[in-house]
Amino acid sequence: MGTNLTGLILIVDDNPTNLDVISEALKDAGYKVAIATSGERAIQQAERRPPDLILLDVMMPGINGFETCKHLKSNTKTCDIPIIFMTALTDTDHKVKGFDLGAVDYITKPFQEQEVLVRVRNHLQLSLLTKNLEEQVAHQTSALQATQLQLIQSEKLSSLGNLVAGIAHEMNNPLGFIAASLKQAKPTFADIIEHLKLYQEQFPDKNEEILNHAEEIDLEYSLKDLPKMIDSLEMACDRLRNISISLRTFSRADTEYKVDFYVYEGIDSTILILKHRLQANDKRPAIEVITEYGNIPQIKCFPGQLNQVFMNILANAIEALEESNQGRSFAEIEVAPNRIMIESSIENDQVKIAIRDNGKGMSEDMQGRIFDYLFTTKEVGKGTGLGLAIAKQIVEEKHQGTITVNSKLGQGTEFMITLPIN
Ligand SMILES: Nc1ncnc2c1ncn2[C@@H]1O[C@H](COP(=O)(O)OP(=O)(O)OP(=O)(O)O)[C@@H](O)[C@H]1O
Ligand SMILES: [Mg+2]
Repeated sequence: MGTNLTGLILIVDDNPTNLDVISEALKDAGYKVAIATSGERAIQQAERRPPDLILLDVMMPGINGFETCKHLKSNTKTCDIPIIFMTALTDTDHKVKGFDLGAVDYITKPFQEQEVLVRVRNHLQLSLLTKNLEEQVAHQTSALQATQLQLIQSEKLSSLGNLVAGIAHEMNNPLGFIAASLKQAKPTFADIIEHLKLYQEQFPDKNEEILNHAEEIDLEYSLKDLPKMIDSLEMACDRLRNISISLRTFSRADTEYKVDFYVYEGIDSTILILKHRLQANDKRPAIEVITEYGNIPQIKCFPGQLNQVFMNILANAIEALEESNQGRSFAEIEVAPNRIMIESSIENDQVKIAIRDNGKGMSEDMQGRIFDYLFTTKEVGKGTGLGLAIAKQIVEEKHQGTITVNSKLGQGTEFMITLPIN
C-alpha cells in the first residue's frame, strides 16, 4: 500500500443492491474490491486473502455480522483487519455491541457516498500507521537487544580479559626469578656434590659423628635425588610459563581489524582456563577432552571474541555433562566417562570446528531456542541465557560464519562452527 491508499476492501452483505452501490463507489475511488454474500464466506475469504479493511453488514441470514466479527477477531490471520459495520439501526446499544466486538466504526444505511469514502480512507490510513508503528517498535526493540548484547559481550570480555591478562603478567616476575635461580642453582649444587665426593675420597676414615649424620639425613639418596628434583622444578617452571602464555593468548585484546590466528591456540588456551572445572572431584572422574585439530591454517579473525565463543560452548558442555551425572555413582560414570571431543577441519575455504559432548542433550524444541537472547534452563543466578546468543552474534555477525546445533536428548550435543579463512 502506498501513500495514496489503494487497498483491498472486502464488502460483506446479503443484499445485492447494497453490494452494488458500495462496490461501485469504492471502485470509482480507486480501491480494489472483493465481495462476500454471507458471514461464512467472508470468514473463508478473509483467511485466504486478507483484505486491508472489511465492511460488514450486521443483519444477515446464517451467522450475522456480530458473529462473523467474533470469528475474524479470534483468528490470528484476520484479527488485525479493521472492520466497519454497516447497519440501518441507529440505537446506541446496538453500536456499542459492535465496538465491544472490536469494530472500528459504523456506517449507516442508506449510504451517503461521501461519508463512506471518508471513513474508509481514514481507517485505512489509521491501520497503515499502526502497522508501521508496530514494525518500527519491533525493529527498534531488536536493534536495542543487539546493541545491549554487544555491550554485555564486550564488557564481559574486557573485564575477564583484563583480569586474566593481569594475572598472566603478575605471574611472570616471580616465575622469571625462579627460573633464573634454578639455572644458577643447578651447576652450584653439582659443584657442591662434586666437592663433597672429593672429601669422601680424600678422607675415607670418617668419624662416628659424620657417619651417623650421613645416615640420619640419608646422604646417598639425597645426593642422587637432588639433581632430579631440580630437573622437575625446571619442568614445572616451563609449565607455568606455558600457562602464562596461554592466559595471554586467551585474553588477547582485539584490535579494530581482524588478525591472523590459529583457532586451535584459542581452543587450547580456553581448555586450560577451564582445567579446574574438568578435573576429577569426589563425585566424578575427570572430564576427558579429546582434540583433533588436523592441519588447519590461520584465519583472519578477532581472537579474543572467538575465545569467548569457545569458552561459552565448553562451559555449557561441562554443565550439561554435570547435569547428566546426576543420579549416577562415581563408578557408573567411570564406565561411560564424561567426554568432550573437539575436531577441526578445512572445507571450501572454511574452517569447521565441531565441539561434541556426551552430556544430557536436548529436545528438538529446545534446540530451536537456545540461541535466543535470555533463553536458559538453569536456575536463577546460575545462567543468564546469554552465552549462546553472544556466541551466535560473534560467529555470524562479526565473522560471517555459521553456528548450528545438533543434539539428542539423553545422548549428547554437537555444536558446529564454520568460519571463513579470509
Ligand atoms: N551442550 C549442551 N547440552 C545441553 N544443553 C545445552 C548445551 N549448551 C546449551 N544448552 C542449553 O542451552 C541453554 C542456553 O545456553 P546459554 O549458554 O545461552 O545460556 P546459559 O548457559 O543458560 O547461561 P549463561 O548466560 O551463563 O551461558 C542452556 O540453559 C542449556 O539448557
Ligand atoms: Mg552458557
